[in-house]
Amino acid sequence: MSLDNRSALVTGAGSGIGRAIALALAREGASVLAADIDEAAARDTAASIEATGGRALARVLDVRQPQQHTEAVAEAVRAFGGLHIAVNNAGVSTGPSGAYRALADIDLDDWRHLTAVNLDGTFFGLRAQIPALLASGGGSIVNIASVMAVSARANLGAYVASKHGVLGLTRAAAVDYAQQKVRVNAIGPGYIDTPMLARKDAIAREGIAGWHPMGRLGSAQEIAELAAWLASERASFVTGAFYPVDGGYLVS
Ligand SMILES: NC(=O)c1ccc[n+]([C@@H]2O[C@H](COP(=O)([O-])OP(=O)(O)OC[C@H]3O[C@@H](n4cnc5c(N)ncnc54)[C@H](O)[C@@H]3O)[C@@H](O)[C@H]2O)c1
Repeated sequence: MSLDNRSALVTGAGSGIGRAIALALAREGASVLAADIDEAAARDTAASIEATGGRALARVLDVRQPQQHTEAVAEAVRAFGGLHIAVNNAGVSTGPSGAYRALADIDLDDWRHLTAVNLDGTFFGLRAQIPALLASGGGSIVNIASVMAVSARANLGAYVASKHGVLGLTRAAAVDYAQQKVRVNAIGPGYIDTPMLARKDAIAREGIAGWHPMGRLGSAQEIAELAAWLASERASFVTGAFYPVDGGYLVS
């Protein structure tokens, strides 16, 4: 398998895309630390990995807390003998108000929440993970951005800005560490059928599906397949790249 003798840390691993990625990395042979702000959800992902014969641990990690990233990385290194793969996936699409508003009407608490989780959370992750990957002789980091990293829709200003920032961090880190064998790439999912989207009603979901030339939502598994490839040595010359997985969304 492509990730035998590799170890991975996945944030937001308790649900949706993060869970699918954790399972895919384990399927390819990696030992996985499933981290999430929701401890029960992280444990459930780790249990699913172990049920299929894989090796996994679970822990609480609020990506807004730099110290918790440091502790999670240290645990992975201690338990698995090093860290080779990190997936910064934890993210939110709304703030405490739950509202979608035009830019000048964005609630400051919503702005702060979205940027704290999506942008600061990715930076804090990279900052803790990169030294561990360097100590392992290199590795691969995958950041889960969005099609909103390179485009915008109405009333999504904080999300759009935070995901553009995730792509910027990806490119900056890729350049800084290319010669030290740490590859850093970003995936841009279109609208994916996860609990994040399940909060919308059926009519809204059908409308959203129609924004993709394929006429459907994506699945978390379709994101996980690319993440597993980027994590592996099959992608050995790939860094600083942005890959949409979006059923044609960005070209329509
Ligand atoms: N679903 C989509 O349509 C879609 C599209 C593009 C990008 N994305 C991105 O994919 C990623 C995963 O989204 P999803 O659809 O699987 O969402 P989800 O809501 O199903 O899962 C998100 C996970 O992140 C965790 N989380 C939330 N805040 C956290 C925090 N502060 N610290 C740690 N964990 C936290 C949640 O507990 C949950 O387990 C996000 O970054 C999201 O922006 C999703």
